[in-house]
Amino acid sequence: MGKLVRFGVAMDEDLLASFDGLVKQRGPGVNRSEAVRDLVREAIVDSAVEDEDDEVVGTITMVFNHGTGDLSDKLDALQHEHHREVVSAMHVHLDAHNCLEVLVLRGRAGDVKGIADTLLGTKGVKHGRLVMTTTSGL
Ligand code: NI
Repeated sequence: MGKLVRFGVAMDEDLLASFDGLVKQRGPGVNRSEAVRDLVREAIVDSAVEDEDDEVVGTITMVFNHGTGDLSDKLDALQHEHHREVVSAMHVHLDAHNCLEVLVLRGRAGDVKGIADTLLGTKGVKHGRLVMTTTSGL
């Protein structure tokens, strides 16, 4: 997992109140930091691929502790649910507890992004990233 860095953000109080409302809607387990991380991730992905219907290939890299509850089973089940998009998976046992998985996905940008959001948003996934690219227009 990358080093966790704290930073301050100055924001109009009305805007912050609206943002807190958004955070609250997302459930009791979500705090400001998690919501900001999700927004930043979305912005990065959106800037790389504009159209949700674009055909893309992507990789998901994620690190998790295989001993966390039924996390391994959950992640496995999610990948089976999306077997059409998940074309390859590599699992590396990093140490006694931590696992690295690198998945290759292919499909509609919207679908690939949705699968990544679900996997990376699964409780217990410590760190992860989706990188999308496309062969169209290259
Ligand atoms: Ni492992």
